[in-house]
Amino acid sequence: MTLVRFFKADGTLDQEVEAAPGQRLLDVAWSAREPLEGACEGVMACSTCHVIVDAADFGKLPPATEEEEDLLDLAAHATRTSRLACQIILTEDMPELSVRIPPGATNWMGR
Ligand code: FES
Repeated sequence: MTLVRFFKADGTLDQEVEAAPGQRLLDVAWSAREPLEGACEGVMACSTCHVIVDAADFGKLPPATEEEEDLLDLAAHATRTSRLACQIILTEDMPELSVRIPPGATNWMGR
C-alpha cells in the first residue's frame, strides 16, 4: 500500500489516504474527492490532472515521457516536480507519496 498525502495549494495537508499498488494517482484523487479534473481517458490529452510532487518523492517516479512533458508545458503553475496524475501508477516500492494540488484546480464536484 502507498500512503498518499494530498496537500492544498497553500501547502497545508488536506488528507492522507491508503492506496493499493497498480492504482493511478488520478483515480486515488477522485476517490478522495480531491479537486483534480483530468479528462484524457488514457490517451493523455489534458493538463487538468496536473499535480506538484514533493521533491523528496519526485525521484522515485519513472521519468515523464516527452508527451507528458509537452502537456505539462501547458499546465498552470507548473514546477520542476510537476507531473500528470493520470500517468502516475502506484507501486509496491512506493510506501509514501506526497503531492500538492495546484492553485485554482477544480473538479466536477466543485471543490
Ligand atoms: S487526465 Fe490529464 S492527461 Fe490524462
